[in-house]
Amino acid sequence: MVIDQKLQKAEEAIKKTTQNINPRYRLGYHIMGEGNWINDPNGLVQYKGEYHVFYQHHPYDENWGPMHWGHVKSKDLVNWEYAPIALAPGDEYDRDGCFSGSAVNNNGELTLIYTGHNYINQEEDTFYQTQNIAVSTDGVVFEKVGQNPVIAHPPEDSAHHFRDPKVWKHNNQWYMVVGNSTKDQTGRVILYKSQDLRKWEYVGVLAQSDGTLGYMWECPDFFELGEKHILLISPQGIESKGDDYNNLFQTGYFVGEYDYEKNEYEKGEFLELDHGHDFYAAQTLVDEKGRRIVIGWMDMWESEMPTKQDGWCGALTIPRELTLGKNNAVSMNPIDEIVELREAKSVELENKSISDYHLAKENSSLLEIKAEFDLTDCKAESVGLTIKGVEEEEVVITYHIRDEKLSLDCSKMGKKEDGVRTTELVNDGKLTLRIFLDRSSIELFANDGMKTMTSRIYPNEERLGLMCFANKGEVNVKEFTYWKL
Ligand code: FRU
Repeated sequence: MVIDQKLQKAEEAIKKTTQNINPRYRLGYHIMGEGNWINDPNGLVQYKGEYHVFYQHHPYDENWGPMHWGHVKSKDLVNWEYAPIALAPGDEYDRDGCFSGSAVNNNGELTLIYTGHNYINQEEDTFYQTQNIAVSTDGVVFEKVGQNPVIAHPPEDSAHHFRDPKVWKHNNQWYMVVGNSTKDQTGRVILYKSQDLRKWEYVGVLAQSDGTLGYMWECPDFFELGEKHILLISPQGIESKGDDYNNLFQTGYFVGEYDYEKNEYEKGEFLELDHGHDFYAAQTLVDEKGRRIVIGWMDMWESEMPTKQDGWCGALTIPRELTLGKNNAVSMNPIDEIVELREAKSVELENKSISDYHLAKENSSLLEIKAEFDLTDCKAESVGLTIKGVEEEEVVITYHIRDEKLSLDCSKMGKKEDGVRTTELVNDGKLTLRIFLDRSSIELFANDGMKTMTSRIYPNEERLGLMCFANKGEVNVKEFTYWKL
């Protein structure tokens, strides 16, 4: 076997950086790079009994740069181990980056489908993008195929944005959706099909912005959930509107019906998938248990990323299972296996009324918290939970009962500017919160995953405790339990 020099160099670079990492914000149970920069999750797949997750990676620097594919794998979606870097850029069709893409098991051959990024003029940010393939039979060492690029150009009516292929099989036919933009800068997703993953035929546009949904749709994914077809996209260029679209870019979805014969997709409105500050470029896989599992990049382009000073940057969310709820909205909940992380359990409150607040002293950084509030006949204006740091530091989760709105306030824990996110959350007489805290992240699942909020937080000090509260009235707390992780 020929040893790939580019991969070897990248591997040496990343091993070297791991010696100089400041651990203060390193996460305890999330996927991160060994050091330096990572962004989007790529190539989610279950192969020969293991889950594989790849990610956009710059092994030479804590800032984004020529993209490689980093690689981790796991037997249980909870404990991850690093595998060698899978892809390095530098061939004539991916000279300046191996951008995002997906993975499929093609009769035992693990196949990565990714975008080759090629600058025409880097200063002016002019470029062209191609779709390419790399294969492996052991799930560890990948070889780019001789037929690359397998798609050299986007269709005639397209702008130069042409990236993030997601491939799946339907009725013995391979399909690929690609993120794209029209010549006049309208975001869209285009569709290809193939018999052998090498020769691709352009089918047409699968969905396109009506003019309000941005200039480019990144990282598409298209799959069945329940009886419906979900198109997941990460659009760039949507204007913020009230509580919605307040991050630089969003990740969201449409629910609809798809006709493969006619390539007709009838869809509802675009909905954001997560309502925190840091959730982007999410991708899914369907596993052998038939679950549709999603993982997102737990950061946002151009946001403050203080871990760059620590020699690393970027992380992925915990894996979450998607389900289609009543009224055709997608719910996200942590995969069942996540309970394997649980260590010591503390039951703080059980069926107790509180007015004002109740403090649980707990200084661990890695926690799962569950709280349930009974809202029937509750006269309080709002209820919630605070994660308290020393001094002024805190993260506050508040449910405004009358408005049926949930908010996450991180302004006193590393998000001074623009620290609050709010979303509507209807209740059936109760509020349940399930929270996953790590050293620099919070993931909140409300009312059984009907709404989720994901944000990075950057505490200066250790934690003091968790506080359960009711404002201007009493609330019955059915449950307030937490586990060290
Ligand atoms: C999304 C994205 C993708 C691209 C990749 C580059 O965050 O911009 O469209 O393939 O990141 O790293």
